[in-house]
Amino acid sequence: MFSFFTKPRAVTALINDVVITVRPKETLLQAALREGIDFPHSCRVGGCATCKCQLVEGKVKELTQAGYILSDDELDRGFILACQSVPSTNVRIKVDTSHIEAHRKVSGRVVGQERLTHDIVHLRIQLDESLPYKAGQFAQLSVQDLPGVARSFSFATRVQPNSQVSFFVRKVPDGVFTSHVHAQSLVSSRVSVEGPGGNFWLRPASAPLLLIAGGSGLAPILALLQEALHEGVKRPATLIFGARTQADLYALEDIGEISRRWPEAFTFLPILSQEPEPSSWTGRLGLVTDLIPERLRPGCHAYLCGPPAMIDAVTALLLQHGVDRAHIHADRFTTQHDVSAAA
Ligand code: FES
Repeated sequence: MFSFFTKPRAVTALINDVVITVRPKETLLQAALREGIDFPHSCRVGGCATCKCQLVEGKVKELTQAGYILSDDELDRGFILACQSVPSTNVRIKVDTSHIEAHRKVSGRVVGQERLTHDIVHLRIQLDESLPYKAGQFAQLSVQDLPGVARSFSFATRVQPNSQVSFFVRKVPDGVFTSHVHAQSLVSSRVSVEGPGGNFWLRPASAPLLLIAGGSGLAPILALLQEALHEGVKRPATLIFGARTQADLYALEDIGEISRRWPEAFTFLPILSQEPEPSSWTGRLGLVTDLIPERLRPGCHAYLCGPPAMIDAVTALLLQHGVDRAHIHADRFTTQHDVSAAA
């Protein structure tokens, strides 16, 4: 019988030099992984840009706008996010797989578990062997007691010569992994760290730095600042740290140490959005966006890490104030980011 409706058909994708079939409604990333291609990826929800690739031929339907995470130049050159792109025709894709060799899983042991705030725990892990990464990147963490469960967290320090790594684990409501980390003593437990992932790291330049962290988004910013100090970077820096209350501020000694050793001007501005009254707080109250207009230095490069709503608001404001999109680097901490990789 004749039908007006066309059944969705599978299409093909030529990824570098490998041809695969993409089923109806499948994303490029889902198809590539199903077909056994080692396609770079991490969050799978459009939050990290690890899966970015170049659409050379064909058309895709994008599930989310990639504009907030890819630069104008990348968008002009046809870059897309494989995890957010469903091919609507046969496509040809180019993807850089050179960093995949560096991605691996390393075992280790928890050597420190310290509560930083009521909902953030600092985990220190001694790895059995080194795991190179760039300060600002993240890894998937799994613990022996929760087989098959892995979650993504940013490294909270630069690479350490003794192969120790650190993560700030914020408790997510109903989060299986984070609840476990908050409820159990994990010292001496065996863990696995798989990574690195993400493209959040300090780009070489001499422009002033504007760093903005929200909540546990401070981890990659601290790592990035430590790395900059180690590398002798000489750029004025402003760090804005948004938290709800005084009780949510942490790592202030680490920030103080960085500030003392920073070779150029370093300004640290914590700001609280929900500090209860009465309060001993004498600093700024409000949102991180309240501070941006007065703290924006001409030609600055911005590094943002925190929840998506904060990243979106800050990005919009920076663009409005003339900051080049190519100079805005962001790591979005989504709930999916935290619960992502139960792969
Ligand atoms: S894996 Fe696609 S954006 Fe993270």
